[in-house]
Amino acid sequence: MDMVSADLVTLNLLREAMETVKSSPLGVIKTPMIPWCQTTLPLEISCNIYIKLENMQKTGSFKIRGVANQFARRPSGGHFVTMSAGNYGKSFAYASKHFGSKGKVVMPETAPVSRSTLIQSFGVEVERVPTSSLMSVVNRCVQEDSMTFLHSYDDLDLIAGHASLGFEVLEVMPEPDVVVVCCGGGGLLAGVAAAIKLSGCDKTRIYGVEPEGVSLRRNQSAWTPRALHQDLHRLLQAHSPLSCVSATLRGSSL
Ligand SMILES: Cc1ncc(COP(=O)(O)O)c(C=O)c1O
Repeated sequence: MDMVSADLVTLNLLREAMETVKSSPLGVIKTPMIPWCQTTLPLEISCNIYIKLENMQKTGSFKIRGVANQFARRPSGGHFVTMSAGNYGKSFAYASKHFGSKGKVVMPETAPVSRSTLIQSFGVEVERVPTSSLMSVVNRCVQEDSMTFLHSYDDLDLIAGHASLGFEVLEVMPEPDVVVVCCGGGGLLAGVAAAIKLSGCDKTRIYGVEPEGVSLRRNQSAWTPRALHQDLHRLLQAHSPLSCVSATLRGSSL
C-alpha cells in the first residue's frame, strides 16, 4: 500500500477539507478549548495551557473529522472495510449508516466487546481477529469480497479532515508555542501539524505524545491515561512557561 506523501498536503487542500468537515451531515462540532486548571488535569505546572475537548464530538473522538472528509470523497453506496480497535470504527460505523454504505470493521480480539456491539448496532459487520492478522484479514476482504479499504490513519482525505482541528486551535490561539497531540498511527498529528505549519506558525513546536511503553503493549492492551498524563507533565515542565494547547488530550477510548 502506498504511503501518503507530504508533498500532497497543501493549504488549499486542507482548507477545502475544513469546509467539507464543517458542513458535513455527520454533525461535526467546533469543540471548545478550555483554559487548563487543576481540576481538568492535575499538573504541577505554571503555563498558559488550553485543552481541546474533542471527546464532545458525537462519536466521542476527533475521528469523525477525518471520516467526514473520507466519506465525502468516496462514491456513496460503496462497500468499505477498515481495521480499528474502537474510536475510528465508531465514526466509520456512524458514517456508514448515515451515507447508506455497507461496512466492515476488522477489530483486534483484545478490544472491549462493548465497542464491537456498538459498531454492529449501526449495521456494520465486525470480525474480531488476533492483532497480528488484522492486515491480512483486511487484504482478504479487499481481494475476495471487492471491498474498498479505508485506512484509519494513513489516508490523505482523513489527514486533511483531521487538520480542521489544527485550524480551530489557531482561531483561539493564533501562534501557540507548543501543541501537544495524542498520537497512535499519526493521522491526527499529521493533520494538525500540517494545518499549523502551513498556516505560517514557524516557531510553534508540535509534539506527538503516546503513553510510555505503548509500542510494547500495543498488541496486548489499551492505552493508560495515567502514563499519558505523566508524559505530558514532563513535556510541559521542559517548556514552562509557554503557551500550550493540548489537542484531544483524552478521548473516550483512553
Ligand atoms: C482518543 C484518541 N486519541 C488519539 C488517537 C491517535 O490517533 P492517530 O491514529 O490518528 O494517531 C486515537 C486513535 O485511535 C484515539 O482514539
